[in-house]
Amino acid sequence: MTERLILGQTLAFGGDPFAEGPEVVTHERRGGVLVREGRIAAVGPAEGLRARHPEARVTDHGAALILPGFVDAHAHYPQTAIIASWGKRLIDWLNTYTFPEEARFADPAYASEIAGRYLDLLLANGTTTVASYCTIHPESVDAFFEAARVRGMRALAGKTCMDRDTAPAFLRDSAQSAYDDSRALLSRWHGVDRLSCIITPRFSPTSTPAQLAALGALWAEHPDCLMQTHLSEQTDEIAWVKSLYPEARDYLDTYEAHGLLGPNGLYGHAIHLDPREIDRLAEVGAALVHCPTSNTFIGSGLFDMGLRARLRVGLATDTGGGSSFSMLRTMAAAYEIAQLRGIALHPSELLWLATGASAEALRLGDRIGRLASGHEADLVVLDLASTPAIAQRAARAGDIWEAVFPTIMMGDDRAVVQTYVAGRPVRG
Ligand code: GUN
Ligand code: ZN
Repeated sequence: MTERLILGQTLAFGGDPFAEGPEVVTHERRGGVLVREGRIAAVGPAEGLRARHPEARVTDHGAALILPGFVDAHAHYPQTAIIASWGKRLIDWLNTYTFPEEARFADPAYASEIAGRYLDLLLANGTTTVASYCTIHPESVDAFFEAARVRGMRALAGKTCMDRDTAPAFLRDSAQSAYDDSRALLSRWHGVDRLSCIITPRFSPTSTPAQLAALGALWAEHPDCLMQTHLSEQTDEIAWVKSLYPEARDYLDTYEAHGLLGPNGLYGHAIHLDPREIDRLAEVGAALVHCPTSNTFIGSGLFDMGLRARLRVGLATDTGGGSSFSMLRTMAAAYEIAQLRGIALHPSELLWLATGASAEALRLGDRIGRLASGHEADLVVLDLASTPAIAQRAARAGDIWEAVFPTIMMGDDRAVVQTYVAGRPVRG
């Protein structure tokens, strides 16, 4: 049986550094990850692993840092080609740039081209798992899953559902077709290889109550499935929701009233929450997904990382509302937003958000997101001196946290030496 031994510095998280501090992380200056049949078989000091596994094929990354592959807990792959579109806030940005682009995904060839381009960008940035929205077209989901399957990636996605006249006519489904198509996609893809379906109403403003209820019913039939949507991203959006759902207590209630609040729910953005909404999300054990580059780019607001005390929180790019495919850039933005709210996130917390915490938000914490025996061998290897500016700062570092923080704050795809998917090198 072929074993691969990957050597470098390692950071193995034994738990959640938010709860247990950075001491919960084991750093090896000369560490290694032993991979067997796509999984991590052992993690530890390099010399011991070498001695115990003399037959293993060795790849030595020297002083580069081996981490679990990054997990992007909320993205829109169909927005790849319109990332960094200028000058609009959420609703205008959707109407001006996003919806016309998403309409193009009726063409399976275009969907397939962008899905491949998108996943290659992710791998170049060290991201090995993503939860993506698709478009209203079931073909856009097929294209995404096919592209992920070819690359051996763990990936989650759903058909984005919109049936209300607030969305353009060329980009609408119906309550019934959203239910039927999402169900058919579930039976085609859910659990195939490393793929999972997510039930995906885009957000309350572009769905009728009938569509939300139909998707709530589908979720009740498949409670193991995740459900993803957007919640309280911008204040204008919240006012819009109020006008469209006058009977609702608040934004979250538009989901709850239709069976779309639950422990496997992923609520993207969640910036402007009322106390009742926070209480309900915490009571049911839902997860929030923080999308910091999007929140600054579209001008949405400052997420409260203090909510982590009560809720699981994942980290995400939200491309193309987010301005980068890189989870390093995303960690930097999370640091800056937290600073603006008076919290200085430790490098261990930032790395945890981009790996284990996002995996836990996606209910995959037992399979990905940590360097741990039995976990799938999705890895990223980072050069901690990838540019002159980063190198000169890292040279002053007194410990691993000081050494990695300049790469978190200033790094991008140039820092990614190698990405491994299920133990297989896919970039380097
Ligand atoms: N709210 C509803 N749809 C979207 C989207 O595509 N991007 C962002 N950032 N927010 C949304
Ligand atoms: Zn989004």
